[in-house]
Amino acid sequence: MDPWTVVYEGFDPEQEALKEALCTLGNGYFATRGACFHADANGVHYPGTYLAGGYNRLRTEIAGRVIENEDLVNLPNWLVLKFRMDGGNWFDLMGVDILSYRQVLDLKQGVLTRDVAYRDPEGRETEWSERRLVHMAEPHLAAIELTITPKNWSGRMDVRSALDGQVLNGGVERYQNLSSHHLEPLETDPVDEETIFLRVRTSQSRVTIAQAARARIFDGDGRLDVHRETVQESGYIAQDMVMDLSEGKGVRIEKIVSLYTSRDHAIAECGLTSRKTVAGAGGFSELLRSHALSWKHLWQRFEMRFRIKPEHEDDHTAMILHLNLFHLLQTTSMHTMDLDVGVPSRGWHGEAYRGHIFWDELFIFPMLNLQMPEITRSLLMYRYRRLSEARKAAKAEGLKGAMYPWQSGSNGREESQSVHLNPKSGRWIPDNSRLQRHVNAAIAYNIYEYHACTGDTEFLSFYGAEMMLEIARFWVSTTTYNRGLDRYEILGVMGPDEYHDGYPDAERAGLNNNAYTNIMATWVLEKALKVLDILPEDRSRELCEVIDLDQKELDEWENISRRMRVVFHDDDIISQFEGYDQLEEFDWEGYSKRYGDIQRLDRILEAENDTPNRYKVSKQADALMLFYLFSAEELKHLFERLGYSFDSEIIPKNIQYYLQRTSHGSTLSRVVHAWVLTRSDRERSWRLCREALKSDYTDVQGGTTPEGIHLGAMAGSVNIIQEGYTGIEWRDDVLRFNPCLPEELDHLTMDIRYRGHSLGVHITQETLTVNNRRCAEKPIAVGYRDDVRELKAGKSQTFHL
Ligand code: BGC
Repeated sequence: MDPWTVVYEGFDPEQEALKEALCTLGNGYFATRGACFHADANGVHYPGTYLAGGYNRLRTEIAGRVIENEDLVNLPNWLVLKFRMDGGNWFDLMGVDILSYRQVLDLKQGVLTRDVAYRDPEGRETEWSERRLVHMAEPHLAAIELTITPKNWSGRMDVRSALDGQVLNGGVERYQNLSSHHLEPLETDPVDEETIFLRVRTSQSRVTIAQAARARIFDGDGRLDVHRETVQESGYIAQDMVMDLSEGKGVRIEKIVSLYTSRDHAIAECGLTSRKTVAGAGGFSELLRSHALSWKHLWQRFEMRFRIKPEHEDDHTAMILHLNLFHLLQTTSMHTMDLDVGVPSRGWHGEAYRGHIFWDELFIFPMLNLQMPEITRSLLMYRYRRLSEARKAAKAEGLKGAMYPWQSGSNGREESQSVHLNPKSGRWIPDNSRLQRHVNAAIAYNIYEYHACTGDTEFLSFYGAEMMLEIARFWVSTTTYNRGLDRYEILGVMGPDEYHDGYPDAERAGLNNNAYTNIMATWVLEKALKVLDILPEDRSRELCEVIDLDQKELDEWENISRRMRVVFHDDDIISQFEGYDQLEEFDWEGYSKRYGDIQRLDRILEAENDTPNRYKVSKQADALMLFYLFSAEELKHLFERLGYSFDSEIIPKNIQYYLQRTSHGSTLSRVVHAWVLTRSDRERSWRLCREALKSDYTDVQGGTTPEGIHLGAMAGSVNIIQEGYTGIEWRDDVLRFNPCLPEELDHLTMDIRYRGHSLGVHITQETLTVNNRRCAEKPIAVGYRDDVRELKAGKSQTFHL
């Protein structure tokens, strides 16, 4: 199989939604699902288009109360191209005999193609072939080229090219009872002979969206002048074009579309700009050239080359790895850097989780830090701009500092739902997931890592440090002093494992002393103190003045960072939370037998009037997150600083313990497990890594990928290869490697960026070579374990493993 193409043969209505999500095209500014150009949303097809950060809020009355949700808005459908023969029905895949159907996503060039041959009920045989792109160099442009060839007939064909702003948000079945009408129609305009224009606005956030579409028709001899008529309705504009086709002779339709919004930079007005842009845009082939060049440059950076030894199974690993990177780059790209957006857990690929920003960036940023750290920086700025909202949120809870929300959207307020639907039981149940305060630790961690990797002290100085200090302050204010134990505790929160939101039969939600939360809080305190030393002393002083931070408070941080409580059971198992050991063991075998797929045990148990809160079951890695984020040395330091002994022997024991009790109900879970097993069980790690890579490609959760990809799993699984198996770390201004390639891999070759240098890395089972390309930067330090060497630009270093 070609590692650069995703090929689907045949049309299967059941699989269409999944293919649409996986064949989404985007450029970090907007994205459009890979729905067929003729299709309206109808249960089989769902042609969604989404703007990065394009949210709107609506209210709905549910279960007797009014709730407000902020959604990623489905924008006007620009794809629409309909055609019909001799005044019959518009072409519909469901209404004809399909003779052949092939859909190919070309990952190298970012082009989606479909080649179809069909026979209609009148016996006419027709072939069509579509190519589509969402431009990676010109973020406001997209294009479709459609060639239609009558095989055994001649006659009239009508083609309709439309911009459809009558669309709703209807991509997620569970949300069907919620309000979904986000767009208000503003204007339709037949601009000129070949161009139509549509302007709509989101109802609450008041973002104006302007689209212009230019349609040109060509036959073998060049441009074809056809009769055109405009159709206009509220929020909808189309141009109908009539042409005569002759047997065996194809016509080619090019639809070039521009999309602008009132939020864009460097425009006078989005409507005007969108018309001008489309008028000046080249044809499909010209656009394809510049688009493909952008992708070529992206792949020069991001491509990873490896060879799986012939004796081992290879289920398209390279293709899936490219697919995952492809979607990462379509969600966050150079065009994202200038936007005020975060990184959505489900991509801009569908409406699941409403395009919200969770903690998943913890799994995504490492991928970007070593490739395009400017993107991480801009995504961290999304958090900085919402610092005052986070301060307000802390204050509203009687806490100090800044408390970032579990789910974040437009302005950084908490967007988590208060109730959610269990599709298994049909019941609306309380959603306590907002108690996952650990998202704050993830933000601090990401800031610190970004700085450690890039050395971007200006970012830290102006933005990063202030967030870290305010988050540290928040953690301190969440602690309670337990006099009996002389320890600080964090009570009433949730860890990453969403199966546990409280104690069985307790009235209030929340758990005490979640180990991951407590240790992360400790880490944040220690690093926040360190950040004040990293910055020039005058800047540190300024920051302390600005946020009114004095020595007394800093001493308190120091003290708490040494006295946080961690609970253990069975000698050296880190208790996921206090009281975990009291929970019942779960009947894994019985439930597997009864239900088959038990990834979503929360839904299964709730439907049985039971709750996972009673059992030792985890949806995803929780305590094990510690081994994902920190090396054994770092953990030893953290535990010993807290006055707990730490022997690295406990790592495999804990991994074993929790691995047996995890259902992988989140796609993030396998990423963590594959990572933590990198060194102790290479074979199992590689197996889990491949499973994690495939999460979306195979829609492992059976129905969630059609609603949007899982970007944390996509990026996180690739990063197991980039960072996990290479053992890359960037501590103390040394870029360290400690490779541990899976047995199955012959070699791994990739490029990374580090402190302005462009490095080629080549790893085999025996050697590591780092090749530093020519540039004007100062030498860097690279190391293999303790063997640290200077590496000048234009030179290379080889280490024997
Ligand atoms: C997981 C969270 C994750 C969220 C968004 C949930 O299912 O439990 O950890 O942040 O999905 O991806």
